[in-house]
Amino acid sequence: MCGIVGYVGNEEAAPILLDGLKRLEYRGYDSAGVAVVAPEGELQLVRRVGKLFRLEQELGARPLRGRIGIGHTRWATHGRPSEVNAHPHVAGPIVLVHNGIIENHMALRSALLARGARIASDTDTELVAHLIHFKLREGMVLEEAVRRSLLELRGAYAIALLSTEEPNRIVVAKSSSPLVIGVGEGAMFCGSDIPALLPYTRRMVFLEDGDFAVLERDAYRIHRIDTGERVERPLRYIDWSPVMAEKGGFKHFMLKEIHEQPRAIEDTLRGRLHREEGDIYSEEIGLSERDAQAIERVFLIACGTSHHASLVGRYYIEMLARLPAVAELASEFRGRDPIVGPRDLVVAVSQSGETIDTLVAAREAKERGARVLAVANVIGSAIPRLADASFYTHAGPEIGVASTKCFTAQLVALLMLAIWLGRRRNVLDPIKARELVEGLARLPLQMRDVIIGTKQLVSNLAKRHGNARDVLFLGRGFSYPIALEGALKLKEISYVHAEGYPAGEMKHGPIALIDVNVPVIVIAPRDRWYERTLSNLQEAMAREGKIIAIASEGDEAVHRLTQDVIEVPEVIEFLNPLLTVIPLQLYAYYVADQKGTDIDQPRNLAKTVTVE
Ligand code: F6R
Repeated sequence: MCGIVGYVGNEEAAPILLDGLKRLEYRGYDSAGVAVVAPEGELQLVRRVGKLFRLEQELGARPLRGRIGIGHTRWATHGRPSEVNAHPHVAGPIVLVHNGIIENHMALRSALLARGARIASDTDTELVAHLIHFKLREGMVLEEAVRRSLLELRGAYAIALLSTEEPNRIVVAKSSSPLVIGVGEGAMFCGSDIPALLPYTRRMVFLEDGDFAVLERDAYRIHRIDTGERVERPLRYIDWSPVMAEKGGFKHFMLKEIHEQPRAIEDTLRGRLHREEGDIYSEEIGLSERDAQAIERVFLIACGTSHHASLVGRYYIEMLARLPAVAELASEFRGRDPIVGPRDLVVAVSQSGETIDTLVAAREAKERGARVLAVANVIGSAIPRLADASFYTHAGPEIGVASTKCFTAQLVALLMLAIWLGRRRNVLDPIKARELVEGLARLPLQMRDVIIGTKQLVSNLAKRHGNARDVLFLGRGFSYPIALEGALKLKEISYVHAEGYPAGEMKHGPIALIDVNVPVIVIAPRDRWYERTLSNLQEAMAREGKIIAIASEGDEAVHRLTQDVIEVPEVIEFLNPLLTVIPLQLYAYYVADQKGTDIDQPRNLAKTVTVE
């Protein structure tokens, strides 16, 4: 989605803005722009369609002068990608950038046109700049003009703006779209996402919905939009390092992030495993022993890859905590008046913590009295802020649009939650719990072995099968969501049509697809579903499908059936998904790399989906 950066301080603003925008490139965009104001108030505006290097080239040829500015990467919603639709937008002295969607833009546009506004673009954003400008003309001071204008907006927004008449302050505002203030030494920053600000400061303040703030070089103030009342928000220290958000010698962020999984899992487990007791330490889950016993149902709500983690989490919770659990797509859960209430635990799973459907679904569940637990990777993001408690994954910043390390970190978080609930509810045998905890502790090394040990084979298989038009992924039990995830990874970055199916469903339809041109990737580690999955593998073979099997180490039976076997270490069955998914991530990566697609920013996709 769109990205925002802003800076006011003692340094030249343009290079800082450009650097911040580069760090937001991963969010996906189609045009970009910066506005810098010189001390005497001269506005310098540069906007370009396409990739950031076009903007960079222009700024190289014509450097901008000034110590205050705002920048934006746009992902078109209203109006096609073009220079005139790119942000920042200008109306009189107001220069403004915006993420999100203003829902009442049609009414606003008519009202502004009736008042004589000269609107240059097709965007909803420019309207906000005109609205503020009109209020300035009515005699309001900047802050009041902004506040009053914001009261007239409906929809989701994060906004940063400045006035050429007051070139010492940036005003920012937020409603359902992320915005963070970075507090530097003699400098203030704002951004739609943490990585944009990491090289400059790790001290961050997260605005709440309905907040606006005024940033000056040495100070910031936060107010409520509805009342104007001043409020305080906690200053948080973000321990992600800027290096974590760089490629570190890898060709793509996605490949780097696949390799970072052992560390992401180690960090997510750190301090939470009680190995002697076979238990999980976690104050963060935010439930008492009695609460855990009183829960009657668990809903896991999420989108995309996080939904696939939730599908596995659902099995974990049912099997280990003996609680009825469902994993629901947040976009389907919200708005249908779901039956959910005070005896239910709703686990909202989201890497970014900002996905609009998950946020709205969690809010609806909370309004009905359910207890909401966030499983998120971005500290202080919207879903954890709304939730009653947050059990964070510690995967570090994920830059590649296709989620990899956050997926496996979510799986371990959900497994820990299931063990914790199982122990509190006295339904999980302590010996089994110890076995699981020990298994989790060994996992990072095993993941490392899988990455190192399988990548050459997977890359060769990708070369052989990469041109297939359709690919089928099959699995049962824990491996069914992994089949869905394998298919999603492949389609989103390589644009190859892929379907994930529960292997048991194959006979009910998809078997018709199989012929000599269709690779069928069967996830068949040793687990309680193994024998039946093997029967499905044989059925696919009988239709001449090209079988690639993901199997447990030393599985002779699978080797006898197909020559293309990717082996993963044999582990306690609950941990299989954490290993079997790795070759599938690598497969998608190598197929896409061979096709030369834009792996880290696949077409039409954005990292954080903050619009509906
Ligand atoms: C796919 C992918 C998306 C996200 C989805 C939810 O690789 O990354 O499907 O999983 O958009 O995002 P979060 O987890 O941020 O809520």
